[in-house]
Amino acid sequence: MHAPTSSFPPDFAWGVATSAYQIEGSPQADGKGESIWDHFAHQPGRMLDGSTGDLACDHYRRWEEDVALMARLGVNAYRFSIAWTRVFPEGTGSVNAAGIGFYDRLVDALLEVGIAPYVTLYHWDLPQKLEEDGGWRSRATVDAFADYAGVVSAALGDRVVNWITQNEPWVAAFLGHRDGEFAPGRTDFGEALTAGHHLLLSHGRAVPVIRANSPGAAVGISLDCRPSTPATDQPADVSAQVHFDGFRNRWFFDPVFGKGYPSDMKAIYRAQGHYPSAEPPFVKPGDTDEIATPIDFLGLNYYTSLAVRAGKEQSEDTGVPPAVPAPEGYTEMGWPITPGALTSFLSRIHDEYAPAAILISENGASYSDAPGPGGVVADDRRIRYIARHLAATREALAAGVPVTGYFVWSLLDNLEWSRGFTQRFGLVWVDHQTQERIPKDSFFWFRDAIAHSRGR
Ligand code: FCB
Repeated sequence: MHAPTSSFPPDFAWGVATSAYQIEGSPQADGKGESIWDHFAHQPGRMLDGSTGDLACDHYRRWEEDVALMARLGVNAYRFSIAWTRVFPEGTGSVNAAGIGFYDRLVDALLEVGIAPYVTLYHWDLPQKLEEDGGWRSRATVDAFADYAGVVSAALGDRVVNWITQNEPWVAAFLGHRDGEFAPGRTDFGEALTAGHHLLLSHGRAVPVIRANSPGAAVGISLDCRPSTPATDQPADVSAQVHFDGFRNRWFFDPVFGKGYPSDMKAIYRAQGHYPSAEPPFVKPGDTDEIATPIDFLGLNYYTSLAVRAGKEQSEDTGVPPAVPAPEGYTEMGWPITPGALTSFLSRIHDEYAPAAILISENGASYSDAPGPGGVVADDRRIRYIARHLAATREALAAGVPVTGYFVWSLLDNLEWSRGFTQRFGLVWVDHQTQERIPKDSFFWFRDAIAHSRGR
């Protein structure tokens, strides 16, 4: 399939993304402490296939091979996350220099091959000790995060320019605290709202800390999104869609961009009994401004969109099937393939919030790939998915949306959270028994697309 990458800006960031728990393994190496995901995955019944991240992609030991793969791919950017428990095994207290050493070497190796590190500080692996003290339900975790951000940015800030504070606070809050599907496995809507607030607050608090330590830093947050349309033009579906959008998108985007929590949703949550007052009690004076600390870019993670039908299940996305069949099909996650919604959502973000820059910090597709004859992993469906979403990105660029980068999720087939190893998102196929890595056809396609865009 033709690579739709001509006419991307010359300084566009072409990258791949990963996260610590999903690839690193080595949960106790060099003094690492236990995280909520280490803890959660070991509880019976939590992981779909009974797996854990104890080995994952063994990246902690194979990182040099993985950097070499990225050099071969030709990306100029790599987004990875730091495991908080490598830096502070118990979340606070004394710093574990050996843990920072790992990322220090990784950053140097990336720079040596011309790949800019994009560091995510939190991709869901809270230190278990902090969870036992109240986790994201507690405001104390906000301060702990700011301290952790300070230590990491002081250690790496002379070489790392691009920083992402939080990854997908909606997921961490709601799948972790309402649905119990993700660590820490709790099931209380009110707790999810509180945790979400503290995640956002921790973002705002960390921004100036990082800037102080990392001269010239560009700091942002990665928000997930679920664009949607009403399933029909019936008033009930139309208002369900507004509710869904408030629940899934506006509750996080609005405060980050200075609009505070949306008033329609505050009223809905109050009516649902999640708190007794007009203003949510977890919002303290000054929080709204702190969350809205200006950022240098928005990271947008985009996978799919849906049509919303009336009913609480759909308005608050409890995993009910999408209302309409997807003409472009579904990925292995069951997610409809909807590249057009990426273009329109990018335009909406630009119009409503006007971030200085937007990075597509994750986009990609899971398919059940396997090596065929000659060891070739023919993943045409992933190539098509990425090509369609790059074309959608280019359309937004042409319409004036300042998109400055695109990161494929993911470099490697890795541990897809509670779905374990049942999903393969990688450009590189990984044999989870032997750790053999085989670049898929999409790897070569993306390599050529990047080269084409950079005029090579
Ligand atoms: C996102 C996560 C990422 C990965 C993809 C498929 O929600 O940020 O870690 O699991 O989904």
